[in-house]
Amino acid sequence: MSTESASAVFRDTFAAEPEGVWSAPGRVNLIGEHTDYNGGLCLPIGLPQRTFAAVRRRDDGMLRMVSAQGGDVVEVALDDVGPGRPEGWAAYVAGVPWALRRAGHEVSGLDVAVDGRVPLGAGLSSSAALECAVAAAASDLFGLGLLADAAGRTALAAACVEAENTVAQAPTGGMDQSAAMLAEPGHALLLDCRDHHTEQVPFDLAEAGLALLVVDTRAEHALVDGQYAERRDSCEQAARELGVPTLREVAVGDLDDALGRLSSDLLRRRTRHVVTEIDRVVQAREALRHDDFERLGALFLLSHASMRDDIEISVDELDTVVETAVAAGALGARMTGGGFGGSAIALVRADAVDATTERVEAAFADKGFRAPQAFAVTASGAAARDH
Ligand code: GLA
Repeated sequence: MSTESASAVFRDTFAAEPEGVWSAPGRVNLIGEHTDYNGGLCLPIGLPQRTFAAVRRRDDGMLRMVSAQGGDVVEVALDDVGPGRPEGWAAYVAGVPWALRRAGHEVSGLDVAVDGRVPLGAGLSSSAALECAVAAAASDLFGLGLLADAAGRTALAAACVEAENTVAQAPTGGMDQSAAMLAEPGHALLLDCRDHHTEQVPFDLAEAGLALLVVDTRAEHALVDGQYAERRDSCEQAARELGVPTLREVAVGDLDDALGRLSSDLLRRRTRHVVTEIDRVVQAREALRHDDFERLGALFLLSHASMRDDIEISVDELDTVVETAVAAGALGARMTGGGFGGSAIALVRADAVDATTERVEAAFADKGFRAPQAFAVTASGAAARDH
């Protein structure tokens, strides 16, 4: 159990007992990609894979952080945390008490031992899981009471986004942290990134004889951050040209008119992705409401094509998962997350999980790609105290 492993690392490193262990899940997004920073809609689920944090308060304002995944103890004064400080994984830990303090909460130093069981670099939001596990610990240990309801959890998610954007300096939207803070077992989380309204949408594939297969392509891609930032910048530029605060304000019915007013083909394609993708989230919620999984699968495929051709965030490995899964009988498949590598998801019959996995593995071997890692997941719960 990772609760125990986080505690054991804590004891070994700090020669004391932690005050508790908290954890938060990774996520896969069912649909609605690169929509969050456009004020749009997305539909993630929490994963069974979680990151654990064993934590104890300190009264000298120091943060000391260690990871079961290796490396030295990182030590930094809370007063010295800021943009780009500390660097690496510790930024996602240290940034959280820093952001909570900026939001007006009284927090002090911490000793933290983490055990990350969300695959790293797989596009499954291991960084948000880490931030949210630490945020849950901070809320309990400093008596903030923010885990108690959705409003408090939304505030914690916002602090985690601030930690990621400002301290870790990754210009991501808010989907991952909201999923890690608000996901419920057996449900997908419909997230409206314009007004932060959320809705729990029942998502029980087992009952329908289906399964959600995640395939981590293990594809590496250089310049990931630069590519993501470019997508965000072009969307913001398109919104400026259209005179709207975000692309969310462009209704799908007005898309052609909007496209006609944009200055380049690149901006037209980015805009077409965002506006149609937001509409696909609305359609996906309707499909789930009626247990129409054929329709959901078809929407996955439309979404993937839009990510491949319009916002251009797919890679060969991701396209190969989608094509192979569909050829093996999947109802639909799409890449998930930021793109440029990472994971794809496939909606498959429960009895076809193994056969689909084998077909994807064989296709990867044929093309000389690294061996992928595939596993079926169910929608799991948000950040919580484990011990
Ligand atoms: C990454 C970011 C999210 C979101 C997705 C794309 O996961 O962290 O904020 O933008 O990419 O949907």
